[in-house]
Amino acid sequence: MKINGLHQRTIWPNPKNKREICILDQRLLPHKIVIEKLTKPEDAIRAIKEMYVRGAGLIGATAGFGMYLAALYAPDNEFDSYMNTFSASLNNSRPTARNLLWAIERIQTALTNTESPAEKREIAYSTACAIADEDANFCKRIGEHGLEIIREISSKKNGQPVNILTHCNAGWLAFVDYGSATAPIYAARDAGIPIHVWVDETRPWNQGARLTAWELQQEGIPNTLICDNTGGHLMQNKMVDLVMVGTDRTTHTGDVANKIGTYLKAVAAYDNNIPFYVALPSSTFDWELDKGYDIPIEQRSEEEVTTVMGCNKDGVIQTVSLTAPNTRAANYSFDITPARLVSGLITERGIVKAEEQAIHSLFPEGNTTQ
Ligand code: MRU
Repeated sequence: MKINGLHQRTIWPNPKNKREICILDQRLLPHKIVIEKLTKPEDAIRAIKEMYVRGAGLIGATAGFGMYLAALYAPDNEFDSYMNTFSASLNNSRPTARNLLWAIERIQTALTNTESPAEKREIAYSTACAIADEDANFCKRIGEHGLEIIREISSKKNGQPVNILTHCNAGWLAFVDYGSATAPIYAARDAGIPIHVWVDETRPWNQGARLTAWELQQEGIPNTLICDNTGGHLMQNKMVDLVMVGTDRTTHTGDVANKIGTYLKAVAAYDNNIPFYVALPSSTFDWELDKGYDIPIEQRSEEEVTTVMGCNKDGVIQTVSLTAPNTRAANYSFDITPARLVSGLITERGIVKAEEQAIHSLFPEGNTTQ
């Protein structure tokens, strides 16, 4: 997607030096556009942990390139043990997003194809690039399938915009390109369907306010930022036609882990008979866990809740306190939306009910019991 009219991905190897992996530092967006370079394996862990990069697909792509950087540093005589130790630390960097372990395992499996460390390094690079390309391609296909939901709603609106509510950032900034929940929005724009997006601010990190509103502006999509508490009121007043969100991990039974507050939007959508769709590439499915409540929920620092970051009128980025000193805060980063509240899952292979049998029919290879 675009920044200031120019196509940009969220992660890419430096074309002049493939030992450098470039990322956008999302901690500073939308106030500053800063490209960081990851050159050491620990850089990838720091980038994920400290949220230079975030969002399920991008965490997976960064993990893939992190494994490649580790392969560059792994000594020939203890290649496998170095990679195993690094994989364990990388996997601990954020607990909820499924794409993290998925990418690590994909690279580890690819590395078993040869005994030669030099070939392993080449394989790690080509597999990391394939993960990134596939992420972008799958999101594009999610857009093509999700477009049909928006088209159907639009056909009943006499040319009025379709109002879509989204939570957090499941846009291109959360993936390598296109995004999951935003891909159908971009596809609808390209198809000439009038749309308007309600953007939840998404406290405490404000992914909606800082990232989603900005990326939609960059793409010329009409959008309005709302406080997290506003969605229910809009739904009761028929100002929302569709809710579309992403997910950090979805069980093969259809339960969805996504940014904290998603569950409340699903409950409000259900109460108001508004379709609630979750968009995801298949790399986000957890084929082992049966119950969403078993998904580990990340808890982040109290400071993310007690402070707020912004840009002052002189263009200086500052973090200020919202609370009295010593105020205690709890910072649960994700919640679980049970499958029964989900109208459907939009995947790269099509739209499927949030039900075990339907998910396994579309993705038979996910059946780990066979
Ligand atoms: O903590 P983040 O920003 O990594 O969490 C991302 C989300 O939870 C988003 O809501 C998104 O929908 C899931 S990632 C595509």
